[in-house]
Amino acid sequence: MSETPFPIAIGADHAGLPLKLVLQQALAEAGHPLLDCGTNATASVDYPDFAHAVCAAVLDGRASFGVLVCGTGIGMSIAATRHAGIRAAVLHSTTEARLTRAHNDANVAAFGARLVGPEVALDALRAFLDTAFEGGRHARRLAKLAPNAIPANG
Ligand code: RB5
Repeated sequence: MSETPFPIAIGADHAGLPLKLVLQQALAEAGHPLLDCGTNATASVDYPDFAHAVCAAVLDGRASFGVLVCGTGIGMSIAATRHAGIRAAVLHSTTEARLTRAHNDANVAAFGARLVGPEVALDALRAFLDTAFEGGRHARRLAKLAPNAIPANG
Protein backbone atom coordinates (compact mmCIF):
# COMPACT_ATOMS: atom_id res chain seq x y z
CA MET A 1 0.00 0.00 0.00
CA SER A 2 1.07 3.60 -0.50
CA GLU A 3 3.87 5.00 1.71
CA THR A 4 1.99 8.27 2.30
CA PRO A 5 -0.71 8.02 4.97
CA PHE A 6 -3.34 10.25 3.37
CA PRO A 7 -6.93 10.08 4.68
CA ILE A 8 -9.39 7.85 2.87
CA ALA A 9 -13.18 7.71 3.13
CA ILE A 10 -14.74 4.28 2.73
CA GLY A 11 -18.34 3.16 2.40
CA ALA A 12 -20.38 0.17 1.34
CA ASP A 13 -23.88 -1.18 1.27
CA HIS A 14 -24.84 -4.56 2.73
CA ALA A 15 -23.60 -6.42 -0.37
CA GLY A 16 -20.26 -4.67 -0.22
CA LEU A 17 -19.71 -5.00 3.52
CA PRO A 18 -17.50 -8.16 3.47
CA LEU A 19 -15.08 -6.64 0.96
CA LYS A 20 -15.22 -3.25 2.68
CA LEU A 21 -13.96 -4.89 5.89
CA VAL A 22 -11.02 -6.44 4.03
CA LEU A 23 -10.05 -3.18 2.31
CA GLN A 24 -10.56 -1.18 5.49
CA GLN A 25 -8.20 -3.43 7.44
CA ALA A 26 -5.50 -3.24 4.78
CA LEU A 27 -5.77 0.55 4.58
CA ALA A 28 -5.56 0.87 8.35
CA GLU A 29 -2.52 -1.44 8.47
CA ALA A 30 -0.89 0.77 5.85
CA GLY A 31 -1.39 3.73 8.19
CA HIS A 32 -4.09 5.60 6.31
CA PRO A 33 -6.46 7.57 8.54
CA LEU A 34 -9.91 6.20 7.68
CA LEU A 35 -13.25 7.93 7.61
CA ASP A 36 -15.71 5.05 7.89
CA CYS A 37 -19.00 6.09 6.30
CA GLY A 38 -20.67 2.69 6.95
CA THR A 39 -22.50 0.49 6.56
CA ASN A 40 -21.30 -1.83 9.28
CA ALA A 41 -24.31 -4.11 9.50
CA THR A 42 -25.77 -6.78 7.27
CA ALA A 43 -29.24 -5.17 7.07
CA SER A 44 -30.30 -4.14 3.57
CA VAL A 45 -29.52 -0.47 2.88
CA ASP A 46 -29.48 1.88 -0.13
CA TYR A 47 -26.08 2.30 -1.80
CA PRO A 48 -26.52 5.99 -2.78
CA ASP A 49 -26.61 7.02 0.90
CA PHE A 50 -23.07 5.71 1.38
CA ALA A 51 -21.76 6.96 -1.95
CA HIS A 52 -22.98 10.47 -1.11
CA ALA A 53 -21.32 10.39 2.32
CA VAL A 54 -17.97 9.27 0.89
CA CYS A 55 -18.09 11.80 -1.95
CA ALA A 56 -18.91 14.64 0.45
CA ALA A 57 -15.80 13.75 2.44
CA VAL A 58 -13.62 13.79 -0.68
CA LEU A 59 -15.09 17.06 -1.93
CA ASP A 60 -14.75 18.93 1.37
CA GLY A 61 -11.18 17.72 1.89
CA ARG A 62 -11.70 15.37 4.84
CA ALA A 63 -10.43 12.57 2.58
CA SER A 64 -7.96 12.51 -0.31
CA PHE A 65 -9.67 9.54 -1.94
CA GLY A 66 -12.87 7.55 -1.60
CA VAL A 67 -13.46 3.80 -1.72
CA LEU A 68 -16.94 2.43 -2.37
CA VAL A 69 -18.16 -1.16 -2.42
CA CYS A 70 -21.52 -2.57 -3.43
CA GLY A 71 -22.54 -5.79 -5.16
CA THR A 72 -21.29 -4.79 -8.59
CA GLY A 73 -19.55 -1.45 -8.01
CA ILE A 74 -21.82 -0.02 -10.69
CA GLY A 75 -24.52 1.52 -8.52
CA MET A 76 -21.91 3.12 -6.30
CA SER A 77 -20.00 4.54 -9.27
CA ILE A 78 -23.17 5.94 -10.83
CA ALA A 79 -24.13 7.57 -7.53
CA ALA A 80 -20.61 8.95 -7.04
CA THR A 81 -20.37 10.49 -10.49
CA ARG A 82 -23.52 12.51 -9.81
CA HIS A 83 -21.22 14.75 -7.75
CA ALA A 84 -19.36 17.45 -9.68
CA GLY A 85 -15.68 16.98 -8.95
CA ILE A 86 -15.91 13.25 -8.32
CA ARG A 87 -14.33 10.95 -10.87
CA ALA A 88 -15.22 7.38 -9.91
CA ALA A 89 -14.08 4.20 -11.64
CA VAL A 90 -15.22 0.62 -11.14
CA LEU A 91 -12.10 -1.50 -10.78
CA HIS A 92 -11.55 -5.17 -11.65
CA SER A 93 -7.81 -5.06 -12.29
CA THR A 94 -4.57 -3.28 -11.47
CA THR A 95 -4.38 -2.03 -15.05
CA GLU A 96 -7.70 -0.22 -14.78
CA ALA A 97 -6.66 1.15 -11.40
CA ARG A 98 -3.33 2.49 -12.69
CA LEU A 99 -4.75 3.99 -15.86
CA THR A 100 -7.76 5.65 -14.26
CA ARG A 101 -5.42 7.45 -11.86
CA ALA A 102 -2.85 8.32 -14.53
CA HIS A 103 -5.33 9.42 -17.20
CA ASN A 104 -8.62 10.30 -15.45
CA ASP A 105 -7.30 11.52 -12.07
CA ALA A 106 -9.98 9.30 -10.53
CA ASN A 107 -10.58 10.18 -6.88
CA VAL A 108 -13.01 7.38 -6.01
CA ALA A 109 -12.43 3.64 -6.50
CA ALA A 110 -15.53 1.45 -6.68
CA PHE A 111 -15.58 -2.33 -6.29
CA GLY A 112 -18.16 -5.05 -6.80
CA ALA A 113 -17.93 -7.49 -3.92
CA ARG A 114 -19.94 -10.05 -5.89
CA LEU A 115 -17.57 -9.81 -8.86
CA VAL A 116 -14.00 -9.42 -7.60
CA GLY A 117 -12.24 -11.37 -4.88
CA PRO A 118 -10.38 -9.71 -2.04
CA GLU A 119 -6.90 -10.28 -3.50
CA VAL A 120 -7.81 -8.71 -6.83
CA ALA A 121 -9.51 -5.79 -5.12
CA LEU A 122 -6.57 -5.22 -2.77
CA ASP A 123 -4.05 -5.26 -5.61
CA ALA A 124 -6.20 -2.83 -7.59
CA LEU A 125 -6.60 -0.52 -4.62
CA ARG A 126 -2.84 -0.51 -4.02
CA ALA A 127 -2.24 0.37 -7.68
CA PHE A 128 -4.91 3.09 -7.49
CA LEU A 129 -3.35 4.73 -4.43
CA ASP A 130 0.23 4.40 -5.69
CA THR A 131 -0.33 6.01 -9.10
CA ALA A 132 -0.12 9.75 -9.76
CA PHE A 133 -2.14 11.69 -12.31
CA GLU A 134 -0.02 12.34 -15.41
CA GLY A 135 -1.54 15.73 -16.23
CA GLY A 136 -0.64 17.20 -19.63
CA ARG A 137 -3.08 16.18 -22.36
CA HIS A 138 -5.17 14.38 -19.74
CA ALA A 139 -5.70 17.63 -17.80
CA ARG A 140 -7.09 19.22 -20.96
CA ARG A 141 -9.56 16.35 -21.30
CA LEU A 142 -10.60 16.53 -17.65
CA ALA A 143 -11.36 20.24 -18.10
CA LYS A 144 -13.95 19.16 -20.65
CA LEU A 145 -15.78 17.21 -17.93
CA ALA A 146 -16.49 20.29 -15.81
CA PRO A 147 -20.24 21.04 -15.55
CA ASN A 148 -19.86 24.32 -17.47
CA ALA A 149 -17.91 22.59 -20.25
CA ILE A 150 -20.61 20.08 -21.13
CA PRO A 151 -22.41 21.08 -24.34
CA ALA A 152 -26.15 21.62 -24.11
CA ASN A 153 -28.24 18.86 -25.69
CA GLY A 154 -29.19 19.47 -29.29
C1 RB5 B 1 -27.80 -4.71 -3.74
O1 RB5 B 1 -28.53 -5.88 -3.89
C2 RB5 B 1 -27.17 -4.32 -5.09
O2 RB5 B 1 -28.15 -3.91 -5.97
C3 RB5 B 1 -26.13 -3.24 -4.88
O3 RB5 B 1 -25.17 -3.68 -3.99
C4 RB5 B 1 -25.34 -2.82 -6.11
O4 RB5 B 1 -24.79 -3.90 -6.76
C5 RB5 B 1 -26.02 -1.89 -7.03
O5 RB5 B 1 -25.45 -1.47 -8.04
